[in-house]
Amino acid sequence: MKFFLDTADLNEIEEAASWGALAGVTTNPSLYARIGGKVADFENHIARICEVVDGPVSAESVAMTRDEIIADGIRLAAIAPNVVVKVPTMIEGLAATRALSERGIKVNMTLCFTVPQAILAARSGAAFISPFVGRFDDISEDGISQLYDVVQAIGNYDFGHDVEIIAASVRSANHVAQAALMGADIATVPFNVLKKCVEHPLTDRGLESFLADWEKVKNA
Ligand code: E4P
Repeated sequence: MKFFLDTADLNEIEEAASWGALAGVTTNPSLYARIGGKVADFENHIARICEVVDGPVSAESVAMTRDEIIADGIRLAAIAPNVVVKVPTMIEGLAATRALSERGIKVNMTLCFTVPQAILAARSGAAFISPFVGRFDDISEDGISQLYDVVQAIGNYDFGHDVEIIAASVRSANHVAQAALMGADIATVPFNVLKKCVEHPLTDRGLESFLADWEKVKNA
């Protein structure tokens, strides 16, 4: 499974990229708003992320009609070769995904919650599909089992093009573990969750005892 960072924060992206395992970034309008982003700077900001990240960078269209989404997608894809256009799972989004994928522009279908939505996304040409986990948990449903169903269903078919499943709306290291165990291709994770994936109290305790023992060795 590959790790994407789910953020628009350049500091977080640069820091995570320096750890050596970052394979891509996903952004969305809420994440861009969270860093105080302005519309006028959006495309420059995506360009800066694309320079830091050696992998797909999802930039979302907020348009609601197919023609507007297609126009957004063409403009966003021109920013850098590694831009992937994020398109919501809806009728206009499917139509736009078909048109964009026929132009060779990669689409990440987002806000995907069900197996039928995922199959339709794949059939419309989406290169990436993002089933949301945490938002199911938010309404007391089991987001991991929904993700599992999508991974199984997509794996049943040959869509004639590569389709990668991105476990999205990930809230914990346990979500990441479950996504990996079921064979999701990618987990896109907030920076704090990525840190939690690295850290463990037993690792910290092990390090403390190794350092203490090494002091003894040095003084022996
Ligand atoms: C990523 O592509 C999604 O936009 C993101 O994971 C949504 O996460 P949230 O449910 O925490 O907003």
